Amino acid sequence: MGSVKIEQLTKKFGDTLALDHVNLDIKEGEFFALLGPSGCGKTTTMRCIAGFESPTSGEVKIGDKVVNKLPPNQRNCGMVFQSYALFPHLNVFENVAYSLNIRELNSSNFFKKPLIYGRILNKKLFKYPKHIEEKVRKILEYVELDQYANRLTSELSGGQQQRVALARALIMEPAVLLMDEPLSNLDLKLRHTMRNTIRKIQQDLGITTIFVTHDQEEAMSMADRVAVMSEGKVIQVGTPTDLYSNPQSPFIADFVGSSNIFKGTVVGEENGYSVVQLNGYKIKSATKTSKKEVDIIIRPENIKIIQNNTETDNSLEGKVIIPTYFGSTVRYELEVGSHNFIVDTTYLSGDRILEPGSVVKIAIEHERVLLI
Ligand SMILES: Nc1ncnc2c1ncn2[C@@H]1O[C@H](COP(=O)(O)OP(=O)(O)OP(=O)(O)O)[C@@H](O)[C@H]1O
Ligand SMILES: [Mg+2]
Repeated sequence: MGSVKIEQLTKKFGDTLALDHVNLDIKEGEFFALLGPSGCGKTTTMRCIAGFESPTSGEVKIGDKVVNKLPPNQRNCGMVFQSYALFPHLNVFENVAYSLNIRELNSSNFFKKPLIYGRILNKKLFKYPKHIEEKVRKILEYVELDQYANRLTSELSGGQQQRVALARALIMEPAVLLMDEPLSNLDLKLRHTMRNTIRKIQQDLGITTIFVTHDQEEAMSMADRVAVMSEGKVIQVGTPTDLYSNPQSPFIADFVGSSNIFKGTVVGEENGYSVVQLNGYKIKSATKTSKKEVDIIIRPENIKIIQNNTETDNSLEGKVIIPTYFGSTVRYELEVGSHNFIVDTTYLSGDRILEPGSVVKIAIEHERVLLI
């Protein structure tokens, strides 16, 4: 059983509260991302699951079993570290075979031990048994490294090393695969390719995977569900679309994608919409709220720049401050009253980019104005 349940997990390092009553419930077969800024406790959570760190209080369950007291090698977790932690003096084959050998060593009788030690230390004199040889070959083929079996890992590219680390974890057939920022050392293009590779392997094997990243795009594009952490706490857990469309705090709205976030006061209701007063103008929202002072969240792509003069609710006049061209989109920074709005527009070949100083009208649908 590869489900992982964390209850009230707290970890203190001296005076630092690295984890503060963290609760997570990760289903078997799920691809789960831990996302958050540097120092928020992602690695510590992972290390508590793997058994490299013992919690100050709280419980870690893998399947039905509380594993708090089990050493890492009895937790059935495979771990891929940010730095890969490969053995530079061993070739690809030996790196992948290493843990299998160790497992065999631990379970072997006295007479067999020298043979396995010898195999670990010097492959040239001690042959690998057939079952290990076959298993390693198969997994290397799977991660498309079979051509590189005899290469030293220090002679591989970043992406290839990453796949060795993955193969080394997968060969142990763990119930849970833990990956701590595995792509952060790769260049942008390779990172995108490896995202797909990892996702495909995870889906093929149906292995419960916990993936740590501080890159929101990575988390959103790969995971079934994402937990966003800040300062040792889990702030919100949800599917990527859920987090993006229904952030429950300004922190999430800002951290997951970009947002226009303004303070406002709810001053009434009109036709079923909440009317919010900002400094100098009003905006209507479909969000029902009992709060008076609210945070108004508007995603940049939900603001339309309109050409005609039709007056609708939530149409406001603004002035272009900076247009930024990204190829398929143009991001405008607009001055609207005393606020600066960010607006993302689709750019099609031949479109005109509005000049700084241009006066434009923007419109926002009621449903796309969130109040929290
Ligand atoms: N061994 C340790 N001793 C003391 N403090 C630690 C130790 N490990 C982590 N911390 C502290 O605990 C907090 C959480 O650290 P953690 O490594 O879990 O963060 P993170 O989210 O993985 O950050 P990053 O994205 O930078 O890797 C930080 O304030 C960190 O300084
Ligand atoms: Mg970390």
